[in-house]
Amino acid sequence: GTFKVLALGGDHIGPEVVAAGLQVLRQVADQFGVAVEIEEDLLGGASWDVHGTFCTDAVAAKARAADAILVGAVGGPEWDNIRIAGPITETDGLTRLRIELDVYNALRPARAWPALLHRTPYRQEVVEGADLLVVRENAGGIYYGEPRGREVLGDGQERAFEISEYRTGEVERIARCAFEAARGRGGHVTSLDKSNVMESGKLWRETVARIGREEYPDIQLRHLLMDYALFAVARAPQEFDVLLADNLFGDLISDLVAVVSGALGMLPSATLPAAARVGHPVKGGLYEPTHGSAPDISGQGVANPIGTILSVAMMFEYGFGLPAAARAIEQAVDRVLAAGLAPPDLGGTDGTATITQAILRNLHPI
Ligand code: NAI
Ligand code: MG
Repeated sequence: GTFKVLALGGDHIGPEVVAAGLQVLRQVADQFGVAVEIEEDLLGGASWDVHGTFCTDAVAAKARAADAILVGAVGGPEWDNIRIAGPITETDGLTRLRIELDVYNALRPARAWPALLHRTPYRQEVVEGADLLVVRENAGGIYYGEPRGREVLGDGQERAFEISEYRTGEVERIARCAFEAARGRGGHVTSLDKSNVMESGKLWRETVARIGREEYPDIQLRHLLMDYALFAVARAPQEFDVLLADNLFGDLISDLVAVVSGALGMLPSATLPAAARVGHPVKGGLYEPTHGSAPDISGQGVANPIGTILSVAMMFEYGFGLPAAARAIEQAVDRVLAAGLAPPDLGGTDGTATITQAILRNLHPI
């Protein structure tokens, strides 16, 4: 059949990197004989300016009907301070999309590209051989816990609060996602929490341990406290494989592991409504680079498109069930980096178009 892809560039460099990603998507689909139908629409500030909402009902409906959704990035100083009453789904288009799609399994790989090991932002002895996958719970925890808000206290001070909460079922399903991912990789899960001081952390640790023991005895499981984990991963990332974390800690560790790939612009992500199992394509996943809209460099043609292009690779692997196409894209990226090309965030001078063209030229079916 034909895979339906909804492409939402978003704001600032978002549309620039999504245009690059779509070129790769079309060429790889051609080369691997996959039929794709691509539709483009607005999200974030771009949607606000036209429709007065950050995500229209029409876009939400198209997203629910799509096989895969490619997103650039949303936000910017023009819109970040718009205050409208109502739930977070009204104030943040990307969050609305995540909730509409019921995605909770955020996969964020980061690896040391051999071709980059001798270049500037790297400490080769630290990152050589590192190949990590952050599995972040992306639909619960402190970012969504209720109640939340602000109140004025009797003494005139303001109190702001939110709640860190997890249910057993939420932890079970994301734990399975991490163990499944580990089966296709190094076979090793490290689960991060603050079970020493947080009740939700205790439930997290007990639940992950039980799922591991009962359902995945073939996978090695280790638990680390989040604060120590930041040190341990930064010191020796090559000693880790899958890093499982809740919504908040997963947010933090995702940015930390970006050092392994040399720049934020290198990092892809897939956020899925199910576990990714080899040979079982998942419909309705959201694929996006982990970086934001980078207003400081937008419109200059210098944005690094690799994080988006690698997100397209994840789309072929998890959304279309074609890991060979994903490997072909990764190999093309590796060849281009090995040839010495690099965008400014990796210390080079090559722009979005130059990098993208080079990747397209180096794409060969394996
Ligand atoms: P950012 O990731 O947009 O930028 C941080 C730094 O990294 C900037 O110096 C930027 O130029 C650079 N950078 C990021 N992506 C790059 C790329 N592909 N190529 C080259 N350089 C790149 O984070 P920041 O500045 O905190 O946020 C900017 C806007 O993006 C804000 O409105 C924020 O809310 C939004 N944002 C959106 C996200 C999303 O759509 N998923 C995620 C994070 C932030
Ligand atoms: Mg973040």
